[in-house]
Amino acid sequence: LDNGLARTPQMGWNDWNTFFCNINESLIRQTADVMVSSGMAAAGYKYVNIDDCWSTKSRNASGDLVPDPQKFPSGMKALADYIHAKGLKLGIYSSAGTTTCAGYPASLGYEQRDAALWASWGIDYLKYDNCGDHQGRNGQQRYTAMRDALAATGRPIAYSLCNWGQESVWTWGMPVGNSWRTTGDIAANWSSITGILDQQVGLEAYSGPGGWNDPDMLEVGVGSLTATEGRVHFSLWSLLNAPLIAGNDLRSMSAETLSILTNTEVIAVNQDWGGRQGHKISDNGNLEVWRKPMANGSVAVVLLNRGTSTSTLSTTASALGLGSASSYSVRDLWAHTTSTSSGTISASVPGHGAAMYIVTGGGIVPTPSGTIKGAGSGR
Ligand code: GLA
Repeated sequence: LDNGLARTPQMGWNDWNTFFCNINESLIRQTADVMVSSGMAAAGYKYVNIDDCWSTKSRNASGDLVPDPQKFPSGMKALADYIHAKGLKLGIYSSAGTTTCAGYPASLGYEQRDAALWASWGIDYLKYDNCGDHQGRNGQQRYTAMRDALAATGRPIAYSLCNWGQESVWTWGMPVGNSWRTTGDIAANWSSITGILDQQVGLEAYSGPGGWNDPDMLEVGVGSLTATEGRVHFSLWSLLNAPLIAGNDLRSMSAETLSILTNTEVIAVNQDWGGRQGHKISDNGNLEVWRKPMANGSVAVVLLNRGTSTSTLSTTASALGLGSASSYSVRDLWAHTTSTSSGTISASVPGHGAAMYIVTGGGIVPTPSGTIKGAGSGR
């Protein structure tokens, strides 16, 4: 969407993956505090996003949504002021139907009224879900109506579509939203992460600055995901140019979780537009190689071991699309070390683990299949 926002994938936090409906203004304020004090804001995270369950169960007499006075006694304007004073931005949630997924009033038919209310509070981001009755309208119509209502407010509001990949949203999402969910909901376990990953293959043709494929929010530091699995998740979501929206309790995260979320070398891959989102280039059962061309002619690579025991994975500069050179520089984005290679990149990778590198040398060789469907149209 050509609204000047999300020219690189949006970064922030959302309450849903850890707190579900158990939210309130103290949680949001404390999260904003930690986002700054922990170094996450400095690493690029700026949106603090409220998900479902923030309102009362019905609109007021004039037809407006009302923040739940138990959960948000100071109101949303005061909360936005607090967030803005920290240099951060505040996000809210609704649905392109009659109700949200948790059964609260939603915005179908109320697009202008709700967008104007959010803008008056100082809201900076909308996650727009797909629950409730659709009153006979398709996704493109319902999501476009809110796009237009947000634009009419005159306030820059990042617009995140959440229709779970329905109606092949990636084929029409670029002129409508800043990102679009490509799948159903993520859960904090390995099979969910890899299952979502498998559904991203082929979608790399549709994303670009202003409009990103969204394989759902991060589960790093949540549930049963181990730190090794968290590094896989963060490596791949970064390579896929996914919005990086943390979903853990920032107030109690471990040093290891923080170090994953603030790995600035991995984040730099996510925030770089080299003309194409990362994609899978080989798949040998449990062993996969993913690459992303970088703007400076280098290539980011993830070597992924989906098996349960340690395996050696390798690829070559040529397979990564690099031209020939006498030697390549190989930067390990998790070990933060640099080595040289004559063309083979290999690593011993633990089960449910990944290695991530940037390989430099030879320059990217353009491929005939390099056309970007998402680029150049409607943004
Ligand atoms: C849907 C969305 C989730 C979350 C919940 C809230 O399931 O996909 O990300 O927003 O609704 O109810």
